[in-house]
Amino acid sequence: MLMLGIESSCDETAAAVVAEVDDPARPWQIRSSIVASQVEIHREWGGVVPELASRQHIRDICGVVERALGDASVTLRDIDAIAVTQGPGLVGSLLVGLSFAKSLAASANLPLVPVHHLAGHIESLFLHHGPLPLPAAVLVVSGGHTSLFEVREPGAYRLLGRTRDDAAGEAYDKVAKLLGLGYPGGPIIDRIAPEGDDRAFDLPVARMTHRDRNAPGEPGRLDFSFSGIKTAVLRHVRAQERHGEAQERHGERHGEARRGTERRGEAQEGRAPDESEQAQARFVADLCASFQRSVVEALLDRTFEAAVMIGARSIGIAGGVSANSRLRADATARGRRAGLPVFLPSLALSTDNAAMIAAAGLRRYHQGIRAGLDLNADASLRL
Ligand code: KG4
Ligand code: ZN
Repeated sequence: MLMLGIESSCDETAAAVVAEVDDPARPWQIRSSIVASQVEIHREWGGVVPELASRQHIRDICGVVERALGDASVTLRDIDAIAVTQGPGLVGSLLVGLSFAKSLAASANLPLVPVHHLAGHIESLFLHHGPLPLPAAVLVVSGGHTSLFEVREPGAYRLLGRTRDDAAGEAYDKVAKLLGLGYPGGPIIDRIAPEGDDRAFDLPVARMTHRDRNAPGEPGRLDFSFSGIKTAVLRHVRAQERHGEAQERHGERHGEARRGTERRGEAQEGRAPDESEQAQARFVADLCASFQRSVVEALLDRTFEAAVMIGARSIGIAGGVSANSRLRADATARGRRAGLPVFLPSLALSTDNAAMIAAAGLRRYHQGIRAGLDLNADASLRL
Protein backbone atom coordinates (compact mmCIF):
# COMPACT_ATOMS: atom_id res chain seq x y z
CA MET A 1 0.00 0.00 0.00
CA LEU A 2 1.26 3.51 -0.86
CA MET A 3 0.41 6.52 1.31
CA LEU A 4 1.02 10.09 0.17
CA GLY A 5 1.68 12.37 3.17
CA ILE A 6 1.27 16.15 3.13
CA GLU A 7 2.48 18.49 5.91
CA SER A 8 2.24 22.29 6.09
CA SER A 9 1.60 23.10 9.77
CA CYS A 10 4.42 25.61 10.27
CA ASP A 11 7.22 26.79 8.00
CA GLU A 12 7.98 23.65 6.01
CA THR A 13 6.02 22.50 2.97
CA ALA A 14 6.50 18.75 2.81
CA ALA A 15 5.24 15.74 0.87
CA ALA A 16 6.32 12.10 1.01
CA VAL A 17 5.41 8.67 -0.27
CA VAL A 18 5.61 5.85 2.28
CA ALA A 19 5.00 2.21 1.35
CA GLU A 20 3.60 -0.40 3.69
CA VAL A 21 5.22 -3.75 2.97
CA ASP A 22 4.92 -7.28 4.28
CA ASP A 23 7.84 -7.16 6.71
CA PRO A 24 6.82 -7.15 10.39
CA ALA A 25 10.27 -5.88 11.45
CA ARG A 26 10.13 -2.86 9.10
CA PRO A 27 6.60 -2.47 7.74
CA TRP A 28 7.04 1.12 6.51
CA GLN A 29 9.49 2.24 3.85
CA ILE A 30 10.13 5.80 2.75
CA ARG A 31 9.95 5.95 -1.06
CA SER A 32 10.42 9.73 -1.16
CA SER A 33 10.42 12.68 1.21
CA ILE A 34 10.57 16.29 0.06
CA VAL A 35 10.82 19.28 2.41
CA ALA A 36 10.79 22.88 1.18
CA SER A 37 12.04 24.91 4.12
CA GLN A 38 11.08 28.58 4.50
CA VAL A 39 13.82 29.28 7.00
CA GLU A 40 15.54 31.82 4.72
CA ILE A 41 12.33 33.85 4.48
CA HIS A 42 11.64 33.94 8.24
CA ARG A 43 15.28 34.43 9.30
CA GLU A 44 15.06 38.10 8.35
CA TRP A 45 12.27 38.51 10.97
CA GLY A 46 13.87 36.36 13.67
CA GLY A 47 10.94 33.93 13.73
CA VAL A 48 8.06 32.51 11.71
CA VAL A 49 5.71 35.15 10.27
CA PRO A 50 2.38 33.31 9.83
CA GLU A 51 1.12 35.32 6.85
CA LEU A 52 4.38 34.91 4.95
CA ALA A 53 4.37 31.20 5.79
CA SER A 54 0.94 30.49 4.35
CA ARG A 55 1.70 32.47 1.18
CA GLN A 56 4.90 30.50 0.65
CA HIS A 57 3.09 27.18 1.21
CA ILE A 58 0.76 28.14 -1.65
CA ARG A 59 3.74 28.78 -3.92
CA ASP A 60 5.51 25.55 -3.00
CA ILE A 61 2.87 22.89 -2.52
CA CYS A 62 2.28 21.80 -6.15
CA GLY A 63 5.99 21.42 -6.89
CA VAL A 64 6.70 19.63 -3.60
CA VAL A 65 3.94 17.05 -4.15
CA GLU A 66 4.95 16.52 -7.79
CA ARG A 67 8.54 16.01 -6.74
CA ALA A 68 7.56 13.51 -4.02
CA LEU A 69 5.60 11.46 -6.58
CA GLY A 70 8.41 11.76 -9.13
CA ASP A 71 11.17 10.75 -6.68
CA ALA A 72 9.13 7.67 -5.69
CA SER A 73 8.69 6.88 -9.44
CA VAL A 74 4.91 6.78 -9.09
CA THR A 75 1.92 8.77 -10.30
CA LEU A 76 -1.21 9.70 -8.39
CA ARG A 77 -2.83 6.57 -9.87
CA ASP A 78 -0.44 4.36 -7.86
CA ILE A 79 -1.30 6.06 -4.54
CA ASP A 80 -3.83 4.28 -2.27
CA ALA A 81 -4.61 7.05 0.25
CA ILE A 82 -3.63 10.59 1.25
CA ALA A 83 -2.69 11.62 4.80
CA VAL A 84 -2.63 15.28 5.78
CA THR A 85 -1.81 17.25 8.93
CA GLN A 86 -5.06 18.62 10.33
CA GLY A 87 -3.44 20.39 13.32
CA PRO A 88 -2.11 21.75 15.56
CA GLY A 89 -0.18 24.55 13.90
CA LEU A 90 -0.66 27.88 12.16
CA VAL A 91 -4.17 27.88 10.79
CA GLY A 92 -3.32 29.64 7.53
CA SER A 93 -0.47 27.22 6.89
CA LEU A 94 -2.52 24.16 7.81
CA LEU A 95 -5.30 25.24 5.45
CA VAL A 96 -3.00 25.21 2.43
CA GLY A 97 -1.95 21.57 2.88
CA LEU A 98 -5.43 20.52 3.93
CA SER A 99 -7.22 22.16 0.99
CA PHE A 100 -4.66 20.75 -1.41
CA ALA A 101 -5.03 17.23 0.04
CA LYS A 102 -8.82 17.43 -0.08
CA SER A 103 -8.81 18.52 -3.73
CA LEU A 104 -6.35 15.79 -4.64
CA ALA A 105 -8.37 13.14 -2.79
CA ALA A 106 -11.61 14.30 -4.41
CA SER A 107 -10.21 14.45 -7.94
CA ALA A 108 -8.40 11.10 -7.73
CA ASN A 109 -11.17 9.48 -5.69
CA LEU A 110 -8.80 8.48 -2.89
CA PRO A 111 -9.45 8.09 0.85
CA LEU A 112 -8.30 11.05 2.94
CA VAL A 113 -6.83 10.47 6.43
CA PRO A 114 -6.50 13.38 8.90
CA VAL A 115 -3.37 13.29 11.07
CA HIS A 116 -2.36 15.04 14.31
CA HIS A 117 1.07 16.63 13.88
CA LEU A 118 2.39 15.15 17.14
CA ALA A 119 1.16 11.67 16.18
CA GLY A 120 3.38 12.19 13.14
CA HIS A 121 6.40 12.94 15.35
CA ILE A 122 5.65 9.87 17.52
CA GLU A 123 5.27 7.64 14.46
CA SER A 124 8.59 8.91 13.06
CA LEU A 125 10.14 6.57 15.64
CA PHE A 126 8.22 3.54 14.36
CA LEU A 127 8.96 4.58 10.78
CA HIS A 128 12.69 4.71 11.45
CA HIS A 129 13.07 1.74 13.78
CA GLY A 130 10.11 -0.56 13.16
CA PRO A 131 8.02 -1.63 16.18
CA LEU A 132 9.31 -0.34 19.57
CA PRO A 133 9.12 -2.41 22.78
CA LEU A 134 5.87 -1.26 24.42
CA PRO A 135 4.80 0.39 26.59
CA ALA A 136 7.03 3.30 25.58
CA ALA A 137 7.46 6.73 27.15
CA VAL A 138 7.74 9.15 24.23
CA LEU A 139 8.91 12.74 24.48
CA VAL A 140 7.91 15.02 21.60
CA VAL A 141 10.07 18.10 21.78
CA SER A 142 9.95 20.78 19.09
CA GLY A 143 9.56 24.49 18.46
CA GLY A 144 5.86 24.39 19.26
CA HIS A 145 5.55 21.46 21.67
CA THR A 146 7.13 19.70 24.60
CA SER A 147 4.89 16.78 25.54
CA LEU A 148 5.29 13.37 27.10
CA PHE A 149 3.14 10.47 25.94
CA GLU A 150 2.57 6.90 26.96
CA VAL A 151 2.28 4.55 23.98
CA ARG A 152 0.86 1.30 25.35
CA GLU A 153 -0.08 -0.15 21.98
CA PRO A 154 0.63 1.00 18.45
CA GLY A 155 -1.41 4.09 17.60
CA ALA A 156 -2.71 4.72 21.16
CA TYR A 157 -1.23 7.84 22.74
CA ARG A 158 -1.90 9.05 26.30
CA LEU A 159 -0.67 12.48 27.38
CA LEU A 160 1.42 12.30 30.59
CA GLY A 161 2.84 15.84 30.78
CA ARG A 162 3.46 18.93 28.70
CA THR A 163 4.96 22.37 28.93
CA ARG A 164 2.98 24.99 30.83
CA ASP A 165 4.56 27.85 28.86
CA ASP A 166 7.35 27.80 26.24
CA ALA A 167 8.32 24.73 24.26
CA ALA A 168 11.97 23.67 24.59
CA GLY A 169 12.70 24.56 20.95
CA GLU A 170 11.06 27.94 21.48
CA ALA A 171 13.40 28.52 24.46
CA TYR A 172 16.37 27.66 22.23
CA ASP A 173 15.15 30.11 19.58
CA LYS A 174 14.52 32.91 22.10
CA VAL A 175 17.87 32.49 23.87
CA ALA A 176 19.71 32.53 20.54
CA LYS A 177 17.88 35.74 19.69
CA LEU A 178 18.88 37.29 23.05
CA LEU A 179 22.49 36.43 22.31
CA GLY A 180 22.23 37.80 18.75
CA LEU A 181 23.10 34.41 17.26
CA GLY A 182 20.42 34.15 14.55
CA TYR A 183 17.48 31.91 13.67
CA PRO A 184 16.58 29.10 14.20
CA GLY A 185 18.45 29.01 17.49
CA GLY A 186 18.49 25.26 18.21
CA PRO A 187 21.13 24.17 15.72
CA ILE A 188 23.26 27.31 16.38
CA ILE A 189 23.35 26.83 20.17
CA ASP A 190 23.96 23.11 19.63
CA ARG A 191 27.03 24.00 17.53
CA ILE A 192 28.46 26.58 19.97
CA ALA A 193 27.73 24.75 23.26
CA PRO A 194 30.55 22.15 23.06
CA GLU A 195 33.08 25.05 23.11
CA GLY A 196 31.79 26.30 26.47
CA ASP A 197 31.85 25.24 30.12
CA ASP A 198 28.42 23.79 30.91
CA ARG A 199 28.85 24.51 34.64
CA ALA A 200 29.81 28.18 34.19
CA PHE A 201 26.27 29.40 34.92
CA ASP A 202 23.60 28.00 37.15
CA LEU A 203 20.40 28.19 35.10
CA PRO A 204 17.80 26.07 36.85
CA VAL A 205 14.69 24.88 35.03
CA ALA A 206 11.58 25.28 37.21
CA ARG A 207 10.16 22.02 38.53
CA MET A 208 6.36 21.92 38.33
CA THR A 209 5.04 20.37 41.51
CA HIS A 210 1.64 22.07 41.67
CA ARG A 211 -1.40 21.37 39.55
CA ASP A 212 -2.00 23.49 36.49
CA ARG A 213 -4.79 25.96 37.28
CA ASN A 214 -5.79 25.86 33.62
CA ALA A 215 -6.06 22.06 33.64
CA PRO A 216 -7.00 21.06 37.19
CA GLY A 217 -8.03 17.57 36.10
CA GLU A 218 -4.49 16.63 35.10
CA PRO A 219 -1.86 15.58 37.66
CA GLY A 220 0.78 17.90 36.16
CA ARG A 221 3.73 16.28 37.96
CA LEU A 222 5.40 15.55 34.66
CA ASP A 223 4.87 19.03 33.24
CA PHE A 224 7.68 21.28 32.00
CA SER A 225 8.32 25.02 32.19
CA PHE A 226 10.95 26.74 30.08
CA SER A 227 10.03 30.41 30.32
CA GLY A 228 12.05 31.01 33.52
CA ILE A 229 15.37 29.87 32.06
CA LYS A 230 15.02 32.41 29.26
CA THR A 231 14.70 35.21 31.85
CA ALA A 232 17.70 33.84 33.76
CA VAL A 233 19.76 33.97 30.55
CA LEU A 234 18.58 37.53 29.94
CA ARG A 235 19.80 38.56 33.41
CA HIS A 236 23.30 37.23 32.66
CA VAL A 237 23.32 38.97 29.27
CA ARG A 238 22.39 42.30 30.87
CA ALA A 239 25.04 41.86 33.60
CA GLN A 240 27.65 41.14 30.93
CA GLU A 241 26.63 44.26 28.99
CA ARG A 242 27.01 46.39 32.12
CA HIS A 243 30.40 44.80 32.75
CA GLY A 244 31.49 45.56 29.15
CA GLU A 245 30.37 49.19 29.44
CA ALA A 246 32.24 49.63 32.72
CA GLN A 247 35.38 48.19 31.13
CA GLU A 248 35.01 50.49 28.14
CA ARG A 249 34.71 53.54 30.39
CA HIS A 250 37.81 52.35 32.18
CA GLY A 251 39.61 51.89 28.82
CA GLU A 252 38.56 55.35 27.61
CA ARG A 253 40.03 56.88 30.72
CA HIS A 254 43.26 55.17 29.72
CA GLY A 255 43.03 56.22 26.04
CA GLU A 256 41.98 52.84 24.62
CA ALA A 257 38.58 53.74 23.15
CA ARG A 258 37.32 51.18 20.62
CA ARG A 259 34.30 50.92 18.41
CA GLY A 260 31.22 49.26 19.94
CA THR A 261 30.96 46.39 17.45
CA GLU A 262 34.51 45.28 18.23
CA ARG A 263 33.65 45.31 21.91
CA ARG A 264 30.82 42.82 21.24
CA GLY A 265 33.25 40.17 20.09
CA GLU A 266 32.94 40.75 16.34
CA ALA A 267 36.59 40.71 15.38
CA GLN A 268 37.21 42.61 12.17
CA GLU A 269 38.30 40.55 9.20
CA GLY A 270 41.97 39.82 8.85
CA ARG A 271 42.86 40.49 12.46
CA ALA A 272 43.05 38.15 15.46
CA PRO A 273 40.40 38.73 18.15
CA ASP A 274 41.66 40.79 21.07
CA GLU A 275 41.24 39.93 24.72
CA SER A 276 37.79 41.44 25.25
CA GLU A 277 36.48 39.81 22.06
CA GLN A 278 37.78 36.46 23.26
CA ALA A 279 36.15 37.01 26.64
CA GLN A 280 32.83 37.81 24.95
CA ALA A 281 33.01 34.68 22.78
CA ARG A 282 33.78 32.62 25.91
CA PHE A 283 30.82 34.19 27.71
CA VAL A 284 28.45 33.24 24.85
CA ALA A 285 29.85 29.69 24.62
CA ASP A 286 29.58 29.19 28.42
CA LEU A 287 26.02 30.49 28.46
CA CYS A 288 25.01 28.25 25.51
CA ALA A 289 26.63 25.23 27.18
CA SER A 290 24.99 25.91 30.57
CA PHE A 291 21.59 26.56 28.96
CA GLN A 292 21.81 23.37 26.93
CA ARG A 293 22.81 21.29 29.96
CA SER A 294 19.84 22.58 32.00
CA VAL A 295 17.29 22.07 29.23
CA VAL A 296 18.54 18.58 28.36
CA GLU A 297 18.61 17.57 32.04
CA ALA A 298 15.04 18.78 32.58
CA LEU A 299 13.80 16.96 29.48
CA LEU A 300 15.51 13.70 30.39
CA ASP A 301 14.69 13.81 34.13
CA ARG A 302 10.99 14.00 33.37
CA THR A 303 11.13 11.45 30.53
CA PHE A 304 12.91 8.84 32.63
CA GLU A 305 10.54 9.51 35.56
CA ALA A 306 7.61 8.95 33.20
CA ALA A 307 9.21 5.72 32.00
CA VAL A 308 9.43 4.41 35.57
CA MET A 309 5.87 5.55 36.31
CA ILE A 310 4.34 3.61 33.41
CA GLY A 311 6.71 0.63 33.56
CA ALA A 312 8.07 1.46 30.11
CA ARG A 313 10.14 -1.03 28.12
CA SER A 314 11.55 1.70 25.92
CA ILE A 315 11.94 5.44 25.55
CA GLY A 316 11.39 7.48 22.39
CA ILE A 317 12.40 11.08 21.71
CA ALA A 318 11.13 12.86 18.60
CA GLY A 319 10.57 16.37 17.20
CA GLY A 320 12.96 19.10 16.03
CA VAL A 321 14.91 19.32 19.31
CA SER A 322 15.59 15.56 19.17
CA ALA A 323 18.20 16.53 16.56
CA ASN A 324 20.21 18.05 19.43
CA SER A 325 23.57 16.34 19.82
CA ARG A 326 23.73 16.57 23.62
CA LEU A 327 20.15 15.36 24.05
CA ARG A 328 20.94 12.38 21.81
CA ALA A 329 24.18 11.49 23.59
CA ASP A 330 22.86 11.99 27.15
CA ALA A 331 19.61 10.13 26.45
CA THR A 332 21.45 7.13 25.06
CA ALA A 333 23.93 7.09 27.97
CA ARG A 334 21.16 7.38 30.57
CA GLY A 335 19.16 4.67 28.83
CA ARG A 336 22.16 2.36 28.97
CA ARG A 337 22.56 3.02 32.71
CA ALA A 338 18.84 2.46 33.33
CA GLY A 339 18.71 -0.64 31.12
CA LEU A 340 16.13 1.02 28.86
CA PRO A 341 16.61 1.25 25.09
CA VAL A 342 16.28 4.82 23.79
CA PHE A 343 14.98 5.38 20.25
CA LEU A 344 15.57 8.54 18.22
CA PRO A 345 14.55 9.30 14.64
CA SER A 346 17.13 10.02 11.93
CA LEU A 347 18.07 13.71 11.76
CA ALA A 348 15.92 14.14 8.64
CA LEU A 349 12.92 12.66 10.46
CA SER A 350 13.49 14.77 13.62
CA THR A 351 12.43 18.09 12.14
CA ASP A 352 9.12 18.55 10.33
CA ASN A 353 8.61 16.27 7.34
CA ALA A 354 5.75 14.49 5.58
CA ALA A 355 7.07 10.92 5.81
CA MET A 356 6.07 10.88 9.49
CA ILE A 357 2.60 12.17 8.49
CA ALA A 358 2.26 9.38 5.92
CA ALA A 359 3.31 6.86 8.61
CA ALA A 360 0.77 8.19 11.11
CA GLY A 361 -1.72 8.17 8.23
CA LEU A 362 -1.10 4.46 7.65
CA ARG A 363 -1.71 3.78 11.33
CA ARG A 364 -4.98 5.72 11.27
CA TYR A 365 -6.03 4.22 7.93
CA HIS A 366 -5.95 0.75 9.50
CA GLN A 367 -8.00 2.08 12.42
CA GLY A 368 -10.65 2.91 9.81
CA ILE A 369 -10.31 6.67 10.13
CA ARG A 370 -11.31 8.69 7.06
CA ALA A 371 -12.20 12.34 6.54
CA GLY A 372 -14.86 13.84 4.31
CA LEU A 373 -14.53 16.97 2.25
CA ASP A 374 -15.89 18.97 5.20
CA LEU A 375 -12.60 18.35 7.05
CA ASN A 376 -11.32 21.60 8.56
CA ALA A 377 -7.94 22.65 9.97
CA ASP A 378 -7.75 22.85 13.77
CA ALA A 379 -4.95 25.10 15.07
CA SER A 380 -5.18 23.62 18.59
CA LEU A 381 -6.19 20.05 17.82
CA ARG A 382 -5.77 17.70 20.81
CA LEU A 383 -4.24 14.28 20.63
O1 KG4 B 1 9.69 19.77 14.83
P1 KG4 B 1 10.15 21.07 14.28
O2 KG4 B 1 10.85 21.06 12.95
O3 KG4 B 1 8.96 22.08 14.13
C1 KG4 B 1 7.94 22.18 15.07
O4 KG4 B 1 6.99 21.33 15.01
O5 KG4 B 1 8.05 23.09 15.93
O6 KG4 B 1 11.09 21.76 15.40
C2 KG4 B 1 11.74 22.98 15.18
C3 KG4 B 1 12.49 23.36 16.46
C4 KG4 B 1 13.08 24.77 16.43
O7 KG4 B 1 12.74 25.42 17.64
C5 KG4 B 1 14.59 24.51 16.35
O8 KG4 B 1 15.36 25.53 16.99
C6 KG4 B 1 14.71 23.19 17.09
O9 KG4 B 1 13.58 22.46 16.68
N1 KG4 B 1 15.94 22.48 16.73
C7 KG4 B 1 16.93 22.20 17.62
C8 KG4 B 1 17.96 21.57 16.88
N2 KG4 B 1 17.55 21.46 15.58
C9 KG4 B 1 16.32 22.02 15.51
N3 KG4 B 1 17.04 22.45 18.93
C10 KG4 B 1 18.17 22.08 19.55
N4 KG4 B 1 19.19 21.48 18.92
C11 KG4 B 1 19.15 21.20 17.60
N5 KG4 B 1 20.17 20.60 16.99
ZN1 ZN C 1 6.91 19.43 14.40
